[in-house]
Amino acid sequence: MDTVLVTGGAGYIGSHVVKNLAAEGYRVVVFDNLSTGFRDSVLAGDLVVGDLADSAALDELLRTFRPAAVMHFAANIEVGESVRDPLKYYRNNAANTVNLLAALAREGVRKCIFSSTAAVYGIPDTIPIRESEPIRPINPYGQAKAFVEKVLEDCSRSGDIDYVSLRYFNASGADPQGRIGERHTPESHLIPLTLKAARGARRNITVFGSDYATPDGTCVRDYIHVEDLSSAHLLALEHLLQGGESGAFNCGYGHGYSVSEVIETAKRVTGVEIPVELSGRRPGDPPVLVADSTGLQQALHWKPRHDDLEFIVRTAWEWERKQS
Ligand SMILES: NC(=O)c1ccc[n+]([C@@H]2O[C@H](COP(=O)([O-])OP(=O)(O)OC[C@H]3O[C@@H](n4cnc5c(N)ncnc54)[C@H](O)[C@@H]3O)[C@@H](O)[C@H]2O)c1
Repeated sequence: MDTVLVTGGAGYIGSHVVKNLAAEGYRVVVFDNLSTGFRDSVLAGDLVVGDLADSAALDELLRTFRPAAVMHFAANIEVGESVRDPLKYYRNNAANTVNLLAALAREGVRKCIFSSTAAVYGIPDTIPIRESEPIRPINPYGQAKAFVEKVLEDCSRSGDIDYVSLRYFNASGADPQGRIGERHTPESHLIPLTLKAARGARRNITVFGSDYATPDGTCVRDYIHVEDLSSAHLLALEHLLQGGESGAFNCGYGHGYSVSEVIETAKRVTGVEIPVELSGRRPGDPPVLVADSTGLQQALHWKPRHDDLEFIVRTAWEWERKQS
């Protein structure tokens, strides 16, 4: 079976994909500097600890393991931090990706699956968002991801690489067997924050804005279970290995839940009356972000299996309650 290199495979999403790649019989090598990832999240394959900035380490890695493809998750992921410290994001998410792509070109690795984001769309004109929507990021995090998508397009045109960019909406949930889950520090995502409040690790959950033009006034997001996100990666891999075309695809269910609906679901699942604090809107938060994922379903034959907020929150809770 082919070897797949997974950068950032010790992180939240990467570790779920590593587990599923191994279950499908792929040989996996994780490359991660463990800056936000965890050694014990890597449930399969080899872990090489190293940094994407280190070209010599990348060359050695590629020569040793000879991967057929790369899945590139490694990045910093906090939008707010990217506004405060843009250079961190342009360095790690953009420049270090160019470094990786240069190493891939040197060593003749031609297939790449890239972790992109809904943040490349900024504030979209149309909902659900199609891939043809203008790319207009409004923060350095989204800018750096959009830049990498462009670099991949150019490298594909020059014949250096075949790629699939997957634009994730809100990755959520955890391994249904409870072995791995979301472990960001600081945490900025709604579901784990709400569940931390449920287990008493936070005082409350803050709702930013309750006067949006949405049914209950709170922001609506498209929460995709990390296992369905993972299956999109495996399909993208097969697609590229079989000589399929490069492209960018949205990853989401095509409908969303409001912040209030998520909190209510968390109260039901946990049985805890989670304290809620209302606060003002955050700048740059679009009222609704929902994916049109027809492209992923048609081109890659993706079939979501966990389009169920209750299941998402339940698997996240099983994981979260073990964190105390
Ligand atoms: N979590 C989401 O909802 C979401 C949404 C859209 C896109 N994404 C993208 O998905 C990817 C994974 O996100 P995540 O939530 O799993 O984040 P994470 O922080 O849990 O994982 C990132 C991993 O990359 C590693 N890493 C970072 N910089 C590195 C470097 N220079 N060299 C080697 N390893 C490095 C970290 O140690 C960590 O293990 C990121 O590219 C992120 O931008 C995530």
